[in-house]
Amino acid sequence: MNTLRRDIKERTNQISKMQWSLCLLILMGQCCFFTCRLYEYHFIAENKTWSEAQRYCRENYTDLAKVFDMTDMSRLRNSTQNQGEAWIGLNNTDGNRTWHWSLPGVEYIHNVNSWDQSGRETWEDPGNCGRKRYDQGDKKLVDVSCNITMWFICYDEMKKDNKTLYLIEYKMKWTQAQSYCRYNYTDLASGLDQVDEEKYEAVIKGLIPDKKFSAWVGLFRDSWRWSDGSDFSFRYWDMELFIDTQSNKTCAMTLLNRSGKWSSDECDKEKPFFCYDDNLILIKENKTWEEALYYCRENYNDLVSITNSHDQNWIQEKVKQANSPYVWLGLRYTCTLGFWFWVTDEVVEYKNWASDVTADDCDMSGAMNRGSPHKWSKQADNKMFNFICSKK
Ligand SMILES: *[C@@H]1O[C@H](CO)[C@@H](O)[C@H](O)[C@H]1NC(C)=O
Ligand SMILES: *[C@@H]1O[C@H](CO)[C@@H](O)[C@H](O)[C@H]1NC(C)=O
Ligand SMILES: *[C@@H]1O[C@H](CO)[C@@H](O)[C@H](O)[C@H]1NC(C)=O
Ligand SMILES: *[C@@H]1O[C@H](CO)[C@@H](O)[C@H](O)[C@H]1NC(C)=O
Ligand SMILES: *[C@@H]1O[C@H](CO)[C@@H](O)[C@H](O)[C@H]1NC(C)=O
Ligand SMILES: *[C@@H]1O[C@H](CO)[C@@H](O)[C@H](O)[C@H]1NC(C)=O
Ligand SMILES: *[C@@H]1O[C@H](CO)[C@@H](O)[C@H](O)[C@H]1NC(C)=O
Ligand SMILES: *[C@@H]1O[C@H](CO)[C@@H](O)[C@H](O)[C@H]1NC(C)=O
Ligand SMILES: *[C@@H]1O[C@H](CO)[C@@H](O)[C@H](O)[C@H]1NC(C)=O
Ligand SMILES: *[C@@H]1O[C@H](CO)[C@@H](O)[C@H](O)[C@H]1NC(C)=O
Ligand SMILES: *[C@@H]1O[C@H](CO)[C@@H](O)[C@H](O)[C@H]1NC(C)=O
Repeated sequence: MNTLRRDIKERTNQISKMQWSLCLLILMGQCCFFTCRLYEYHFIAENKTWSEAQRYCRENYTDLAKVFDMTDMSRLRNSTQNQGEAWIGLNNTDGNRTWHWSLPGVEYIHNVNSWDQSGRETWEDPGNCGRKRYDQGDKKLVDVSCNITMWFICYDEMKKDNKTLYLIEYKMKWTQAQSYCRYNYTDLASGLDQVDEEKYEAVIKGLIPDKKFSAWVGLFRDSWRWSDGSDFSFRYWDMELFIDTQSNKTCAMTLLNRSGKWSSDECDKEKPFFCYDDNLILIKENKTWEEALYYCRENYNDLVSITNSHDQNWIQEKVKQANSPYVWLGLRYTCTLGFWFWVTDEVVEYKNWASDVTADDCDMSGAMNRGSPHKWSKQADNKMFNFICSKK
């Protein structure tokens, strides 16, 4: 049994090496095509209502287009020369609003201790944006009208000045504050570990003027949902045109002649539209890692590899639908050489391990946790999990 497994492992390594040489010689672009592009956008130049467009995309591709971040938005725009309006896969379900963090990829997880629903000041109307108050003991989140102007906290991913959080002492409405942070930094401060932790307190303490103040953080709630059920929080509304509460304009479109910014229209209007086509498939069957590898190579392309945080976020949405607690990735530990590699031959540069994976044992492979925050962990490769294949 053990020898068999070792044998298979050897073969796995050989296949990988062969592929690698092939890639180097002739298929470099091809390899990149599969691994860099988890999905494609398609512009369909036919006039259809939103629901017809949804049906068309679901039959011929995966679904109406969803957009994770500004990079996706740029790819979507680049997929056509058209300069008109086109449906995207977002509609207003008219149901409950749900909270989102502004920074793409930060999942909103409700923590009642972070909130003080009754903590509004007398001049603050209730609303759909989140702010923090700095007033000695009171550091809770409160939902107030997005129209109020106040200071705000930006998050800088690049750590330009060795800092990630900035208190901006200009008074702005929430959407203006978001634009400011996205243009000059990365986004509004997002996620409880950004706004709730000591780091945040330290930043604020360093800057705090001698008085009480409120500041926006990247929290908003709306009732817009993606057609495929993803809970991507990215919104790119054109604030000059878009009014959230227009009750009969409940389907979202991109305005290609206004930098692709979004507005909404009546769903039975006929417009061209964008579909997306997924190059990934979640196989909801339990297999060992090796079985999963051969299943993918036989029926699709390969077990999925993840080379950046954008891909991690895109794949997370799939992993949520698994019926096993973990989902196999094409991540493998080589006992002989003592390092982790992707079976598609990418080096493991981007990492998202749950904890330090030291003292690595043999017969270990990498899997993603179905539960948030969807970290990777090493698992004995004879465990049986769902898995994700990249398609041909
Ligand atoms: C879609 O409708 C617009 C405006 O009504 C029209 O200009 C355009 O030619 C139509 N496109 C197609 C492919 O029918
Ligand atoms: C799928 O595409 C074909 C060819 O473009 C088209 O005829 C068909 O109507 C599409 N399916 C739906 C449900 O619209
Ligand atoms: C879209 O096209 C522009 C201009 O051609 C280019 O600068 C940009 O990098 C492209 N975006 C993506 C995501 O490929
Ligand atoms: C953009 O296109 C819309 C029609 O889709 C048109 O009404 C509007 O004037 C255009 N704006 C610009 C700046 O071209
Ligand atoms: C909007 O989306 C929801 C959920 O997908 C759907 O039930 C509803 O019919 C959609 N609205 C329109 C106008 O298509
Ligand atoms: C809205 O929220 C309430 C309370 O949380 C819940 O009972 C109701 O089912 C929700 N409605 C929809 C359409 O999700
Ligand atoms: C925000 O202000 C605009 C005009 O300044 C107004 O039309 C809108 O109703 C206000 N929204 C809220 C939620 O108060
Ligand atoms: C950031 O911190 C590092 C090490 O702590 C230091 O070497 C560097 O000069 C700092 N950069 C700036 C812009 O302060
Ligand atoms: C970026 O910051 C500068 C300087 O504070 C400011 O003038 C500008 O308006 C900001 N950009 C945006 C898009 O808000
Ligand atoms: C949507 O609302 C606008 C303004 O209230 C109205 O002019 C239009 O006729 C409405 N459309 C439909 C389809 O009800
Ligand atoms: C896969 O295994 C999990 C337990 O790890 C189980 O709950 C699930 O039902 C299994 N799925 C299938 C398709 O057998």
